[in-house]
Amino acid sequence: MRILLLTHSFNSLSQRLWLELRACGHEVSVELDIADSVAEEAVALWRPDVIVAPFLKRAIPASIWANHVCLIVHPGIVGDRGPSSLDWAIQEGVAEWGVTVLQANAVMDGGDIWSAQTFAMRPAKKSSIYRSEVADAAVRSVLEALTRYPDYVRGNWKPTPSHEFKSAVRGIERPFMKQAQRAIDWQHDDTVTVMRKLNAADGCPGVKDMLFGQPCYLFDARAEAGYRGAAGEVLGRCGNALLRATTDGAVWIGHAGRVEYDPGFKLPAAVAFAAEAAALPELVRAVPGEIRYEEHGSVGFLHFDFYNGAMSTDQCTALRDAYLEASRRPTRVLVLMGGEDFWSNGIHLNRIEAADSPADESMRNIEAMDDLALEILRTTNRLTVAVMQGNAGAGGCFLALAADQVWARQAVVLNPHYKNMGNLYGSEYWTYLLPSRVGKERAQSIMQNRLPISAVAAVQEGLLDACFDDDTTAFRSRVKRMALELATAPDYAQRLADKCARRTCDEAKKPLAEYRAEELSEMKRNFYGFDPSYHYARHHFVYKIPHAFTPRHLACHRESPMSATACA
Ligand code: COA
Repeated sequence: MRILLLTHSFNSLSQRLWLELRACGHEVSVELDIADSVAEEAVALWRPDVIVAPFLKRAIPASIWANHVCLIVHPGIVGDRGPSSLDWAIQEGVAEWGVTVLQANAVMDGGDIWSAQTFAMRPAKKSSIYRSEVADAAVRSVLEALTRYPDYVRGNWKPTPSHEFKSAVRGIERPFMKQAQRAIDWQHDDTVTVMRKLNAADGCPGVKDMLFGQPCYLFDARAEAGYRGAAGEVLGRCGNALLRATTDGAVWIGHAGRVEYDPGFKLPAAVAFAAEAAALPELVRAVPGEIRYEEHGSVGFLHFDFYNGAMSTDQCTALRDAYLEASRRPTRVLVLMGGEDFWSNGIHLNRIEAADSPADESMRNIEAMDDLALEILRTTNRLTVAVMQGNAGAGGCFLALAADQVWARQAVVLNPHYKNMGNLYGSEYWTYLLPSRVGKERAQSIMQNRLPISAVAAVQEGLLDACFDDDTTAFRSRVKRMALELATAPDYAQRLADKCARRTCDEAKKPLAEYRAEELSEMKRNFYGFDPSYHYARHHFVYKIPHAFTPRHLACHRESPMSATACA
């Protein structure tokens, strides 16, 4: 089929669907929903059988839905309507939620149902549920809906009106969730309630609140049972997180957006309120922090759960220290676990944007990433494995390739390229790591095409070593088993010797320092050169300024040599 993805942005869900639909053999083009006339033009150019809308912020015009089948991916159960579906479900603590694929008509979210899926909810951030459970259910639902399309065209099948659709759980129309409905009542809300409110608003729009007497938006909360205090009081800090008392415990606030800048522009809480946080006592967390190490038998597991997968200079340095410490332990395999939602998305663009000199901070951050990658690359006393539980982008992808093996969950989407960020050249030793996995030519096309790659496709072309169709819990158990097997494999010593020999040989051909110097000289041009594209792109990215047009490499219908590759 010819499919047009009409979407507000090419976000994680749209990317997942784009990959899955293409893997099924469909021809897929993308149009960002910028204006009705532009969407109409895209439809006229592409002449799609079906339009799939994974993420829209406004209604599809009648001129399109009246003449084409438009399938809306709604992140809610059957009967649910409104723009804050997931937010209400999380805030109200429902046990089960779902995704419904319905046909666009004059009533927002009120069209006939083509397919519906449900899933069990877990206590987690909205963004985490959206990228995981919602994305999985959306893929299942859209694929199921599309199998019905031929029968629909022949008149053998009809979508079901919402009120007739048989479903164990049924939703209702809910309004847009206002800040007044999200507000935390620190004097009365217990930890569970506070966590639900903060989770329901993460990563957008956050919960409007006050810190140190100043209005701000709160994000990235973790419950803490180890401390008590006067409800609402900020009790202290640990690293960049602030601890705030609830009526029966406390919560760590990881990130905050200051209203006087832009509420959507978040920084680590203790950076957003640097002066106030400096005066707070430093506390020890009872719950795990961003970086955590555990050992099982002869395997070490290093977790780094950085918010949004962004890695600032100090986070890279702390992780490098933790890596070095872990590599002094008497283990045989060191597994780099990343975080549950993301493996890594490279340097921390928000921290860079907020720095006095973004160019200097970009340089420091990339050097710190490179220092970390270098330690992984020159580990000779054990085998290393990078484990992608969640998505990886830009430098984060190449950081993983520094390990001896890379395993991923099948649902993971990779964006192993930098150019979308204002033609950034990239570092993290990618000029060494990428060609050695996929060959020079393919390395070049991956970098030029700047398209997402599924874990399955990445394994097929050698970019990753293995991927598994598991949920996060099953994947972790599998990784543990596989890592222990690797550590006790009869050929362990041989593998280790081979890896060291390969590294020595590669180093003799061209030292890592040379790769790094070449990459960084290009990066210096990006950061300090007269072309400011990177600085513009970063600014647009962190302030979420909508695209003014659909990038040509995604819009196959607006033909160009680049888009031809995307559609193939
Ligand atoms: N620095 C700071 N924040 C980052 C980030 C980074 N490197 N990468 C992602 N984020 C944030 C986003 O701003 C977004 O924030 P939100 O919580 O306010 O929504 C969140 O992480 C999720 O990112 P989003 O773009 O919505 O996720 P996605 O899954 O749709 O897209 C990427 C994934 C990797 C394509 C996209 O995030 C991206 O291009 N990131 C930048 C990568 C990069 O250029 N890094 C620098 C070079 S190494």
